[in-house]
Amino acid sequence: MKKHLISVRDLTEEDVLDLYDLFKQFKTGKKERLEGDVFLLFLESSTRTRLSFERACRLLGLQTYHAGAGESSIEKGESFSDTIKTLKALGFKALVFRVPFVFFPYEDLLKEEISLINAGDGTHQHPTQGLIDLFTAMEYYPSIEGLKIVYVGDILHSRVFRSGAYLFNLFGAQLGVCGPRTLIPKDLSPFGVIKVFDNVEEAIEWSDLVIWLRLQEERFKESYIPSKESYFLQFGLTKDRYAKLKGYFMHPGPVNVWVDIDGEVLYGDKSLVLKQVENGLYVRMAVLYWALKDG
Ligand code: NCD
Repeated sequence: MKKHLISVRDLTEEDVLDLYDLFKQFKTGKKERLEGDVFLLFLESSTRTRLSFERACRLLGLQTYHAGAGESSIEKGESFSDTIKTLKALGFKALVFRVPFVFFPYEDLLKEEISLINAGDGTHQHPTQGLIDLFTAMEYYPSIEGLKIVYVGDILHSRVFRSGAYLFNLFGAQLGVCGPRTLIPKDLSPFGVIKVFDNVEEAIEWSDLVIWLRLQEERFKESYIPSKESYFLQFGLTKDRYAKLKGYFMHPGPVNVWVDIDGEVLYGDKSLVLKQVENGLYVRMAVLYWALKDG
């Protein structure tokens, strides 16, 4: 059976610790060579996720092939399952995919002898970003156990939240969310959230780490906020709020400056934004190596 990474919910604590160990090794210069071809299917736009997967493949000696939106037969109505069969028949060892739809249920799709790695599917999962956020927090805080973390913004449409919250929960963090009520899921029980804040000042006061998220407007089916200006004033990271942060802040990117975060504090001393980007390369090397090393 090939190894896949579709959802962080399929990872045990031991898997995550193995991945953390590999991540640290790659970050400190571990060299490994794998053989084979990897197909990067990115039906949604991406800068950091796509390029870090592509670089990670190349640093591991894997050949990369890429198709973006409008460049595969999926747009002609071919199913994902037939696409996977086709890629296997062409000799690909792995498919890294980013798609606008939710990839679930997926058990039947894992039967082909090709590794499937999720780089973001609709509002469902973004496992490598969840791992990036967990591992970055592990580097900057003495322990995740008991760490108070608040996600701020568009929780409803965020696959980053769905992957990250599960992983932080697995390692004993305490989780809160903050944002317009229209952008917070009604049922937060699957995510281990213990606090819901309407007021971002209170969220900042409570937390050791704050993770801002982008408004995922491409997924908005209706108008969820009065305006971007009012959203920034109510929930954005302003200079005043930055001064009150007790620890660091993160953002998975892409940042909408002056909507999510004031441009003057985006790369300040309390920002882990570029650390997350840097770690993305090593997380993806770790995931690809973990999935592909035995075949
Ligand atoms: C995120 C995504 O695509 O889910 N970006 C990323 O991969 N770093 C978040 C977003 O698009 O806002």
